[in-house]
Amino acid sequence: MSMDNDRSGLPVTRRDVLMAGAATAASAAAPTATAQSAAAAAVAPGEQPSMAKVALNVNGRVHELDIDTRTTLLDALREHLHLTGSKRGCDQGQCGACTVLVDGRRTVSCLTLAVMNPGAKVTTIEGLGTPQRLHPMQAAFIKHDGFQCGYCTPGQICSAVGVLDEIRRGVPSHATTDLTARPLLSAVELRERMSGNLCRCGAYSNIVEAITEVAGVKA
Ligand code: FES
Ligand code: FES
Repeated sequence: MSMDNDRSGLPVTRRDVLMAGAATAASAAAPTATAQSAAAAAVAPGEQPSMAKVALNVNGRVHELDIDTRTTLLDALREHLHLTGSKRGCDQGQCGACTVLVDGRRTVSCLTLAVMNPGAKVTTIEGLGTPQRLHPMQAAFIKHDGFQCGYCTPGQICSAVGVLDEIRRGVPSHATTDLTARPLLSAVELRERMSGNLCRCGAYSNIVEAITEVAGVKA
């Protein structure tokens, strides 16, 4: 077998090169952390998944579900109740596409299990308004072109409704300068509070305009 010298002067064999190539290909094909944890969570052959009954009040209607205890709220909504308005983006709590309101508070539904929310009042984009009777936030997003592809929009709108409620309740954000005063309805506050909702189409400034209009203040 021939031996060459690399730039460091150390001998490199053809076998070394092939092994390095194989290692690179293996790492590229390695499953992501999410896929690995999902695989780890898979039920072993012959084992039964752990099932539980949970009652969820979704958009004003109570649903009794008999589900695998590992079912996320997002999967319960999308796969069991067929409410597909809530979107799956990252599935890791980082994009906000799956945001819904749980007892009025915005929640990334991919990061909470359905069984952790018994009796909770869940509001999804389908429960905020209908095409015939839009929620003011939905109407404002349309008016201000607060979306392009629309994939992030259900989460953005649910989050925006939650944001205005947080400000009304005086909940401070990282951008709040005076913790003794009511938070301002400023663009800085809105951008900070909406920073967990990513929009790959970059409709951010229009989203802020839409929320500002619903809040009833000048942008
Ligand atoms: Fe839930 Fe991205 S899908 S935060
Ligand atoms: Fe396309 Fe936000 S409108 S990702």
